Amino acid sequence: MSDNVDKTKMYVDQEQSKAYADNRPRYTDEMFQAIVDYCKETNPNLNLAVDVGCGPGMSTLGFAKYFKKVIGVDVSETQVACAPKDVPNCEFKVGYSDKLPFIKSGTVDLFCSGESFNLMPQKETFAEADRVLKPGGTIAIFGYDVPSSDTPAVQDVIQKYGLKIFPFYPKETAQLLDRFRGLKMPYTDATRNDDIKISMKYTVKEYIGFMKSTWALRAYSEAHPDEDFLADLSKELTEAMEKAGSGLDYTLTWNLFLLMAHKPKN
Ligand SMILES: C[S@@+](CC[C@H](N)C(=O)[O-])C[C@H]1O[C@@H](n2cnc3c(N)ncnc32)[C@H](O)[C@@H]1O
Repeated sequence: MSDNVDKTKMYVDQEQSKAYADNRPRYTDEMFQAIVDYCKETNPNLNLAVDVGCGPGMSTLGFAKYFKKVIGVDVSETQVACAPKDVPNCEFKVGYSDKLPFIKSGTVDLFCSGESFNLMPQKETFAEADRVLKPGGTIAIFGYDVPSSDTPAVQDVIQKYGLKIFPFYPKETAQLLDRFRGLKMPYTDATRNDDIKISMKYTVKEYIGFMKSTWALRAYSEAHPDEDFLADLSKELTEAMEKAGSGLDYTLTWNLFLLMAHKPKN
C-alpha cells in the first residue's frame, strides 16, 4: 500500500466523482434506522446531523427523512459538486472534518463519517465532534470493506483485478479493511454492529463505473500508461458472466460495519 498519499486530494477529478455518485453502493434503510434508533436511546431530538467525508452524499441523504437538517461536509469540491441539490433539508459544504467553524458548539445530534474516517486526522476529528455534539448526542463511524459476488466465476475476476490495484491504495485503507476493529471510540458508552449487508445488482458497465470511482485505479493507471485495465476487466467479466449463464447482471454484497458511541450527558 502507498505511503504519503494526500488524502484530501484523492477525489479531484470530475469523472471519478461522477462515477462515485452513480456506481457506489447505496446504504440501506436498515443501517440509517439502526443509527437513528441508537441516537434516540440518549436523545429524543433529531434536529441536526453532520456527515463528514460525505462524498456525493450517499451517506448523508438517508438521514434526511429522520433529521430536520443534515449537513454533508467534504474536502473535495468535485465530490460535493456531485451531491444532490434538490433535497430541501440537506446542505453540502466543502470543508475539513476537523474544522467546522460554521457549526455552533453543542448543537449537533449526530456526527457521522461513512467510508471515510480512515482518511481523516482522527484525534482532531474526534475533538471537533466533541465540540459540536450536544450532551447525549451520537457519533457514528460506518462503511464497508471489499464486496463479494454470489457467482464464483465473477468473484474470481473481481478478486484478480482488485488485487492488481490493491498496492496503490493509501496505507490508511488497511484500517477500513480491518473494519476499524482497533479504533477506540471517544466515549465509553459505545457499541458496534457487523450484521447489516448491502446487496446490489451490477452490470459490467456499472462495475466498471465502480472501479473508476476508486483512487487506486487512478494511481494504477498513471503507473501503467500502456495497459487498458478497464477494457481487460470488462472483457474478462463479460466472459465469466457468459460462462456462468448469469444473464446481464450479478449480485454484489458488502458487509457493513457500524461503530457508535453516545457523548455523556454531563
Ligand atoms: C470513500 S469517500 C466516502 C463518501 C461517502 N461518505 C460514502 O459513504 O460513500 C471518502 C471521502 O472522504 C473525503 N475526505 C477525505 N479526507 C477528508 C477530510 N479531512 N475532511 C473531509 N472530507 C475528507 C474525500 O474527499 C472523499 O469524498
